[in-house]
Amino acid sequence: MEMEQEFRLDGIVPWGRRLWEYRAFFALEEADLRHAVLDVGAGPSSFAAEASAAGARVTAADPLYALPGKAIAQRFEETRGAMMEGLRQARYRFRWSHYGSPDTIEKIRREALALFLADYGREAARRYVEASLPRLPFADNAFCLALSSHLLFLYGDDLDFAFHIEALRELLRVAEEVRVFPLVNLDGRPSSHLPGVLAQFARDGIRAELVPVPYEFQKGATKMLRLRR
Ligand SMILES: C[S@@+](CC[C@H](N)C(=O)[O-])C[C@H]1O[C@@H](n2cnc3c(N)ncnc32)[C@H](O)[C@@H]1O
Repeated sequence: MEMEQEFRLDGIVPWGRRLWEYRAFFALEEADLRHAVLDVGAGPSSFAAEASAAGARVTAADPLYALPGKAIAQRFEETRGAMMEGLRQARYRFRWSHYGSPDTIEKIRREALALFLADYGREAARRYVEASLPRLPFADNAFCLALSSHLLFLYGDDLDFAFHIEALRELLRVAEEVRVFPLVNLDGRPSSHLPGVLAQFARDGIRAELVPVPYEFQKGATKMLRLRR
């Protein structure tokens, strides 16, 4: 039987998460944030703003940064209805221990957006780079760590297997280590791209591991992918 689609999103949504969430998705420790970090597909997340305020060196990359802050905020408002409807429809598929309710999620996404917009207004030229995977405008080894949150694998129905391989190779070109979370798609099912990605990188001699993280929202999404050259 076809499962009814609960999230009816028109493309990849510009919803952003906070630093505490990124810390959990990627099991980040203080030492991870002492070196140059890239957040790719960063959108209106406040990770770069909050981590930079705490002394980290974070660069955020996203095609959205072609737009002024006002237009990014407007995109957020345009997708809000579909996201909230999806969360309510699919409520049974999530663990609510971190957030409690869909309304709290919206509140946290708005906090992230506000922190992002304030920093984007001040630091657009320094910290925020308009860029789209699978090609990034950074030198080889420009970063120690690259993070991809809620883009690869999650939007695996929109982004095909070849895109995942190309994008991850590009991230490994610009960073020594790459971490990706989550590894399930929007329906909450394990990404069909993951086994092929693991097999490809094993052939390429890249160390690939599935690492447990202290976070679960989509049920069963409790691991990140870590790739190291
Ligand atoms: C769901 S948001 C996640 C934002 C942030 N990483 C987080 O977890 O809070 C996905 C982001 O990926 C961006 N995106 C879409 N296609 C992309 C591409 N080809 N390369 C880089 N980012 C992309 C979108 O603009 C959007 O901001």
